[in-house]
Amino acid sequence: MRVLAVSLLAFGAAYAQYSSSSSHPCPGYTTSNVLTIRNGFTADLTLSGSPCNVYGNDINDLVLTVTVEENNKVNVLIEDAAMKQYQIPQSVVSLNRNSSLHSFADLSFKYTDHPTAGFGFQVIRNDTILFDTIGHPIVFEDQYLELTSNLPKDANIYGIGEGPDTFRRDVNDTIKTLWNRDAANPYKQNTYGSHTVYMENRAGKFHGAYLHNSHGMDIVLANETIQYRVLGGVLDMHFFGGPSAYDVINSYTDLVGRPLPIPAATLGFQNCRYGYKSIDEVDQVIANYSAANIPLEYMWIDIDYMDRTRDFTFDPVNFPLPRIQQTLANLHSKKQKMVMMVDPAIQRNSTYGPYVRGVESNAFVKNADGSVYVGQVWPGYTAFPDWFATNATSYWHNELSMFYEQVPLDGLWIDMNEAASFCTGSCGSGVAEDVVPKFPWTVTPAVPPRIPNVNNTYLVPKYSIHNPQTEISEKSIETIAVHANGVIEYHVHNLYGHMMAKNTRAFLNDLRPNVRPFLLGRSTFAGSGSYVSHWNGDNNSDWDELYFSISSMLDFGIFGIPLVGSDICGFFSNTTEQLCNRWIEVGAFYPFSRVHNGIDSIPQELYRWDSVAESARRALGVRYALLPYYYTKASYSTINGSPIARPLIFEFPADTNVLDNDSQFMIGEAIMISPVLFENDTSVEAYIPNSLWYDWYDHSVVVGAGKNATLDAPLNHVNVHIRGGNVVPTQTPQMSVEDTLAGDYTLIVALDSNFAATGTLYLDDGVTYNSTHSIIKFYSDGKTLVANGTYSHPVTNVVEKIIVLANGDYTGNKYVNPNNTNELILDNLSLCLTESWNINLF
Ligand SMILES: *[C@@H]1O[C@H](CO)[C@@H](O)[C@H](O)[C@H]1NC(C)=O
Ligand SMILES: *[C@@H]1O[C@H](CO)[C@@H](O)[C@H](O)[C@H]1NC(C)=O
Ligand SMILES: *[C@@H]1O[C@H](CO)[C@@H](O)[C@H](O)[C@H]1NC(C)=O
Ligand SMILES: *[C@@H]1O[C@H](CO)[C@@H](O)[C@H](O)[C@H]1NC(C)=O
Ligand SMILES: *[C@@H]1O[C@H](CO)[C@@H](O)[C@H](O)[C@H]1NC(C)=O
Ligand SMILES: *[C@@H]1O[C@H](CO)[C@@H](O)[C@H](O)[C@H]1NC(C)=O
Ligand SMILES: *[C@@H]1O[C@H](CO)[C@@H](O)[C@H](O)[C@H]1NC(C)=O
Ligand SMILES: *[C@@H]1O[C@H](CO)[C@@H](O)[C@H](O)[C@H]1NC(C)=O
Ligand SMILES: *[C@@H]1O[C@H](CO)[C@@H](O)[C@H](O)[C@H]1NC(C)=O
Ligand SMILES: *[C@@H]1O[C@H](CO)[C@@H](O)[C@H](O)[C@H]1NC(C)=O
Ligand SMILES: *[C@@H]1O[C@H](CO)[C@@H](O)[C@H](O)[C@H]1NC(C)=O
Ligand SMILES: *[C@@H]1O[C@H](CO)[C@@H](O)[C@H](O)[C@H]1NC(C)=O
Repeated sequence: MRVLAVSLLAFGAAYAQYSSSSSHPCPGYTTSNVLTIRNGFTADLTLSGSPCNVYGNDINDLVLTVTVEENNKVNVLIEDAAMKQYQIPQSVVSLNRNSSLHSFADLSFKYTDHPTAGFGFQVIRNDTILFDTIGHPIVFEDQYLELTSNLPKDANIYGIGEGPDTFRRDVNDTIKTLWNRDAANPYKQNTYGSHTVYMENRAGKFHGAYLHNSHGMDIVLANETIQYRVLGGVLDMHFFGGPSAYDVINSYTDLVGRPLPIPAATLGFQNCRYGYKSIDEVDQVIANYSAANIPLEYMWIDIDYMDRTRDFTFDPVNFPLPRIQQTLANLHSKKQKMVMMVDPAIQRNSTYGPYVRGVESNAFVKNADGSVYVGQVWPGYTAFPDWFATNATSYWHNELSMFYEQVPLDGLWIDMNEAASFCTGSCGSGVAEDVVPKFPWTVTPAVPPRIPNVNNTYLVPKYSIHNPQTEISEKSIETIAVHANGVIEYHVHNLYGHMMAKNTRAFLNDLRPNVRPFLLGRSTFAGSGSYVSHWNGDNNSDWDELYFSISSMLDFGIFGIPLVGSDICGFFSNTTEQLCNRWIEVGAFYPFSRVHNGIDSIPQELYRWDSVAESARRALGVRYALLPYYYTKASYSTINGSPIARPLIFEFPADTNVLDNDSQFMIGEAIMISPVLFENDTSVEAYIPNSLWYDWYDHSVVVGAGKNATLDAPLNHVNVHIRGGNVVPTQTPQMSVEDTLAGDYTLIVALDSNFAATGTLYLDDGVTYNSTHSIIKFYSDGKTLVANGTYSHPVTNVVEKIIVLANGDYTGNKYVNPNNTNELILDNLSLCLTESWNINLF
């Protein structure tokens, strides 16, 4: 057992340099009654002076609990002694506080009572102070918490979001606002999800911190500090010692929940648009993809299928149920699949079953007077399921199960679950029961923002988070709406999408108990990766958003939601042929690879332009060849949280040249993508880290010298490199994921400069939870290749071919491919994947 490294720091000269950097005169807290507990200690914290009441009422008595857990985590929990502040229930986000991880990163905790700022603490890894609040008073009020830590100058901070931003955050000037919002990807502003975890790279080593709190907040990076400004709750900080990026993500996802096991098929290419006019048009799109030889795995239908955009209904004219069933059956006969959208908002209509049953079972969010809260979404006035209601789960399961009886889909897409509402407040309350806004069932135009009620601090908190809306209730359920447990929306707003995801996944799990569901969700919170995959919402068809789609994808790797991607070719506005070309060359490598389009935009299915179809076939050809590799990475995500798509800095943590690289990315540790992201470019300035690399297409050697190189990138070409030192399993691309994964393998043995390589292949049925599985490790010293591992999954496909790539003619030119002396090909093999083997390469 680890000896607890907690100590009281004597206040000394070293800290005299710090003085309170806060603009408000808050007194901070003083410790007393320090008590040792298992793995840590508790202490009382008492307000050190008169309350400052800066954005609320100072709470006099707090309790500090510090635990240094049996792993590389430290938890610092500061609660109000009266326990009145809202805390996220375990039933909503189940924090694994008793981790079974056993890696040590030498974290320790120190604290002191600073003469003017009061209680402050440090989290230290060996001799490096990772987090340091000393000199910054803690503010703990009913509606405002403030915690500040020093950061090194020009620190390397990643994470905190969601919203388009540079992957490495600008530490001189960043305010990340956490308040879930239906907003179409505004740069640096808050959008659909809230994730408070961040990672820092300090001299090549990573650590991380997570604040477990559901309230609206700003996290401010400026003046060599990180400052949390939170609208309520408690300070429940978790620190992860790393030292690799993957160690941090492993610890974080172990705490909040691991990513879900995905159906292998979800790694296939997918197509959607908002605005398909009929099921006939959907059929035509499916047929056109086949005709163009572009592998379409999933066809998606947006709210278009619904009868007047109401959940669980079918448009009787354009999307009649029997025709949808026929399309679904046709897709299934060709190993293709279908997903449709479901929103949380339920039309307020006293003869519409889902509404009637929701009212009967008390399953909707309420107004303070106990009446149903009525906002406005696509179908007009709507009620919203209250996930805290006792009956909400059974209500939602019942509605979904009646829906699934009609359309046995391959997945669900839950949208608008921030939850979005087009009016502010309970705008339908008081409007006669069966009045429904007129077709087209949307907002009455231009509802002016109401005058904010500054006298209600839950509607207008005194500290104004940087939510770019007149009031925080705008475009969502009002903050004073009431949940069944008596808690108002103010405290739990950021949990709505997460709870919908959890309930919806629970339904899918019950429906087909052994089948891994596919669920895509827009609004997420810490731990949502256990329930949903994610796309980055309504982006715009422009080059900037193509660029930021990479950092958004990489962010969600940190957040523990690795199956992620942005709408390929862009959602709003019209794409161009060139943009769509370049976008599929990036999007083919997103873990979640889907074209999606807005209702007012020109069509952008990949077959619409010959050049785009060609780029798609080529880029998706690489993707499909890599499917066993992608699937192996996805499987490891469920084991240790590691992201599928990774920034270069995770793989080359000591290379300062890649600290802010967000224009290239890696899949796993072996594949680097260097796409074109700027209009009219036909080459890429790509950074080639210090390593041996091989061009994907011609296998030529690229000696990475830790410098930029100009790579040719004509319109139909995306640069892909294999990193030396890796054995990459590939298969021959087919029109479906199932057929691709059923084929024989080609192993690419990309040797490093020592003529060595290793790799992994994870095999299971890709469908069920309880599948048998094999984990096969490959090792090569350049002369032999060994396959060894644990084998329990029965497969008949074999390794048919091995391609060895090396820098130099290490074979003595004996059996070397005459076309390329760096390459050795062994063909017509029949090496099984059900037991170990060892072969000589020459
Ligand atoms: C901390 O120090 C120990 C002992 O010197 C060393 O083994 C370990 O690698 C260090 N950890 C980090 C993250 O630097
Ligand atoms: C932040 O400011 C420092 C100087 O104080 C500068 O060196 C650094 O480049 C700045 N960082 C960014 C991202 O602007
Ligand atoms: C950073 O410091 C400057 C100068 O003291 C101050 O004006 C500014 O408000 C500070 N920024 C933040 C976000 O605290
Ligand atoms: C209310 O719901 C019923 C049952 O679905 C439907 O027939 C009716 O058209 C709806 N009313 C309006 C105004 O949408
Ligand atoms: C749950 O729903 C049933 C009927 O559907 C109702 O009788 C019961 O009162 C509801 N429970 C609560 C807590 O509202
Ligand atoms: C807030 O309360 C004050 C004092 O009661 C009152 O004068 C003011 O009109 C109120 N403001 C609003 C927006 O209701
Ligand atoms: C998109 O293209 C269509 C058809 O050319 C045009 O009507 C529409 O105005 C364009 N939309 C935008 C946002 O430019
Ligand atoms: C790309 O080329 C087109 C046609 O020459 C031109 O109109 C456009 O401005 C160029 N874009 C950029 C970013 O240079
Ligand atoms: C490589 O090129 C990129 C894009 O032009 C540039 O931002 C970066 O600073 C360059 N890196 C190095 C190490 O030269
Ligand atoms: C998985 O569960 C199904 C029933 O749900 C059962 O038929 C099958 O044999 C199980 N497979 C394994 C490998 O346990
Ligand atoms: C395979 O791994 C097992 C267990 O690690 C080891 O005993 C065995 O020698 C290995 N076989 C080969 C061929 O390397
Ligand atoms: C060498 O190149 C020629 C011409 O491209 C091709 O036909 C032949 O199959 C190649 N040989 C090998 C072993 O790859």
